[in-house]
Amino acid sequence: MDLSRAAAEHRDAADPLAAFRARFAGTDDDVLYLDGNSLGRMPRETPAALARVVEDEWARGLVGSWSSWIGTATRIGDLLAEGVLGARPGEVLVGDSTSVDLYKLLVAAADARPGRDVLVCCADDFPTDRYIVAGVAAARGMTVREVPADVDEGLDPAVLAAALDERVAVVVLSAVAYRSGALADVAAVTAAARDVGALVLWDLSHAAGAVPVDLAGNGADLAVGCTYKYLNGGPGAPAFLYVRAQLQEQLHQPIWGWFGQRDQFAMGPAYDPVPGIERFGVGTPPVLAMAAVEVGARLVAEAGVERLAAKGRALGELMVALADAWLVPHGVALASPRDPARRGSHVTLAHPRAWQLTQALVDRGVVPDFRTPDRVRLGPAPLYTRFVDVWDAMDRFRKVLATGVHEGYPTERARVT
Ligand SMILES: Cc1ncc(COP(=O)(O)O)c(C=O)c1O
Repeated sequence: MDLSRAAAEHRDAADPLAAFRARFAGTDDDVLYLDGNSLGRMPRETPAALARVVEDEWARGLVGSWSSWIGTATRIGDLLAEGVLGARPGEVLVGDSTSVDLYKLLVAAADARPGRDVLVCCADDFPTDRYIVAGVAAARGMTVREVPADVDEGLDPAVLAAALDERVAVVVLSAVAYRSGALADVAAVTAAARDVGALVLWDLSHAAGAVPVDLAGNGADLAVGCTYKYLNGGPGAPAFLYVRAQLQEQLHQPIWGWFGQRDQFAMGPAYDPVPGIERFGVGTPPVLAMAAVEVGARLVAEAGVERLAAKGRALGELMVALADAWLVPHGVALASPRDPARRGSHVTLAHPRAWQLTQALVDRGVVPDFRTPDRVRLGPAPLYTRFVDVWDAMDRFRKVLATGVHEGYPTERARVT
């Protein structure tokens, strides 16, 4: 691979997604933002979309606007289903947080497998996933089987297979590992779980908008995911949940709210959930926040997940090649799968001074994030990150290491409150 800056410029000039960058705020400043897998950039259309809801629909339309708001969770759900997740209309709903959606679907799935007393999750999965699995297991007297995973390479399918038997009700797993970016094989895991009669609940937070998850094609049963990462829905944006159409009526979620109710405004005496995806809703949806999710989801759908994934792989390959050439001699090690086909869109590098390096990079206009224990996580977002951004970020990274300027930063991780 040609590692010159000119080659990176050449690739940007040939990039079919290049025009999307101008549709995001802040892309004309100097900051090399490599944290789009944590909080995506703001689409330039978002303030106007929010203003429309505030000024036209809320200020003028008042309560009458509920007629247009009431279908928002399913409308954006359908947009995500078809444009991003490879699911069918009526299988995706937007609302609540990823954590809450995970809880709802996990309890519903465990209830659908009576007599089984084991929940399986990955020991290296994102904390909220592990905590929610532990909490549900504790409340129901179930056992958790935490499957070990390599922090750099991800979960070994053979290790997972060994944890599956007829006692397992539900497996909770991330399609893209939050720390290393390792990709799981959605189709293979779903099939292996189905062989023992278990359901798999996927966390797609680091996958949605970055890699094709093809939920229908892969036969996935259940999934949840964040919309504030690669979907650029904004801080605290409501999550999405997916339930395969054939399963919906068999599942009963534990929070019996009126937004899941059949004939909601009949205000009936007892909970009687609608047959479709709306039964997984709970209460009044965050209408303002959903307007921002819609803008972000439309942009991803317009760009196309296959094209985004191809560019994400190419950006990652360039990053890995530059890390090998420039950073490895300074003690940095790749902490993600080397094969781009086994990675999502982010690349993680390990170094004993990762926390100090992260601070030094931020001060030099490169925004990655730190992940325990010693990792710098770099998340180029194919919608708006250029090849030259990757080149420049790695160039600043090598200069930090070469000068040792990071050694002057505090070693203690500051408390984030
Ligand atoms: C894999 C994964 N799951 C869940 C979450 C958090 O979800 P919530 O929006 O409920 O905080 C994150 C947040 O970064 C995540 O990376």
